[in-house]
Amino acid sequence: MDYTNLIESALKAKENSYAPYSKYRVGAAVLTKDGKIYAGCNIENAAYPSGICAEKTAISKAVSEGNREFLAIAIVADSNDYPTPCGECRQFISEFVKPDLKVILAKSTNDYKTFDFAELLPLSFKLER
Ligand code: THU
Repeated sequence: MDYTNLIESALKAKENSYAPYSKYRVGAAVLTKDGKIYAGCNIENAAYPSGICAEKTAISKAVSEGNREFLAIAIVADSNDYPTPCGECRQFISEFVKPDLKVILAKSTNDYKTFDFAELLPLSFKLER
């Protein structure tokens, strides 16, 4: 699978990051089953906990447009290391994914690591339905 477009979308979204407090810009992009890409960035707030992570922005955009079936999510950040999603984002992602969702932690379009979602959040919480 070629994730170039997905990583490029995340990198582009990172440019719109609003991170005046942490100065840590993050971009994320999700690929839906029908081939659409939704991207988002982190948006901070003077009341710190009111900010939102990039992964949540991207997934919220997709879900609110009626798309909830995801194949992959790419994450990029102002980091020298591969950017790992925070615990709250892992839980947020888990609501909408199958365990084999690919998570791409990217430094650039040709330097990234790919994980199955279940590797990042084993035994994730689900309400019994
Ligand atoms: N951040 C994300 O956007 N995603 C993560 O998974 C980790 C953290 C943001 C939140 C905050 O704006 C900044 O990175 C520093 O924590």
